[in-house]
Amino acid sequence: MRSSRFALQLHPSTPHAHPHTSAAASTSFLGLYYKLQHFWRAVAITYRGLQEAPPRAGHPSRSDAPPCAASSALPELEALAAVVHTRYACRRFDPQRKVPPPLLERLLRLTTRSPTGYNLQGYHLVVLEREADKQAACVACLGQRQVLDASHLVLFVADKECERNAPAALELGLDTTYYRSTLYGPSYLRQVYYYLHGGPANSMACLKRSVSEFYTSAVNRHHRTAKVALITVPESPTAYAWKQAMLACGLFLHLCTAARVQTSPLEGFDETALKHLIGLEEPGSARHRAAAAAHHNAKDANRYTIPVVVCVGYAAAGEGAAQHVYSPRFAPSHFIRWHRF
Ligand SMILES: Cc1cc2nc3c(=O)[nH]c(=O)nc-3n(C[C@H](O)[C@H](O)[C@H](O)COP(=O)(O)O)c2cc1C
Repeated sequence: MRSSRFALQLHPSTPHAHPHTSAAASTSFLGLYYKLQHFWRAVAITYRGLQEAPPRAGHPSRSDAPPCAASSALPELEALAAVVHTRYACRRFDPQRKVPPPLLERLLRLTTRSPTGYNLQGYHLVVLEREADKQAACVACLGQRQVLDASHLVLFVADKECERNAPAALELGLDTTYYRSTLYGPSYLRQVYYYLHGGPANSMACLKRSVSEFYTSAVNRHHRTAKVALITVPESPTAYAWKQAMLACGLFLHLCTAARVQTSPLEGFDETALKHLIGLEEPGSARHRAAAAAHHNAKDANRYTIPVVVCVGYAAAGEGAAQHVYSPRFAPSHFIRWHRF
């Protein structure tokens, strides 16, 4: 199960797991040692937190106006700003109100306009609406109520092997004349494979990372030469996959708000349980074999990863956008830094 602050909130008595913590150890010298270690860590974090406390914002409100004041000369920006200011994470949905499927379909299709690296489009949007599925998803989502009451759930499923889409993406780009520009040129495929293909146990990625780090530092040492640094190879296929899917998630949240549909993004869930629910199974597992025997198309659970689930629906009475207390944000100076970190 993915550990998250939400899991901790739901189980406040759950001790932080430590590989060496055990009931026996807690009464022993080792137990005392770990307790002291936790104590000092907590003191250090609190101290650091105080030192680095972000500047406090004024009282948050939906009308927080950016310094570049509203301009009627940019109506699209004003429309989008209004959407940004009204989106919120809805925790109480009206279980009776369903989002019309054609509307949801439109929002999902618009979401696919989200950009992805190399236009590889390595994510999928799995929609759940049946009661039984929502009940199972609710259990997987640590019992969070909004999962049950929402009209639909959208699971963002990211592909850790999105380089497999490269030939199709290239063909599509050529067919539609998109790649007629000099954007990528003939080295496109080679670059994509170099950049993305992790190889078995991510071994190629490690090798490429070392090569690119070595080459880049060499180039930096002699930066007067015309050489160009190598592209940074992603640390992990999962991180790369999440990066793409989360961008789409952000777009989806705002599209829903524009359509007066409320959303609730979730990261507090048991990813393996959700994968079972949508037919992503561990190859070689009994479930995978059973699915294959039943002629179901069981997909490889290892290839895919779920960074986020979005509950979609209409707010319960008394929870609508007008009545909602909006979440605060730190002062802009916490986020925005010009020129240097
Ligand atoms: C990636 C992500 C995961 C989240 N997971 C949960 C969750 O599991 N449960 C929950 O109640 N809220 C979850 N939230 C909602 C955040 O708590 C909420 O967005 C934040 O407090 C800011 O509030 P706002 O969205 O209303 O502006 C999540 C938000 C994001 C962006």
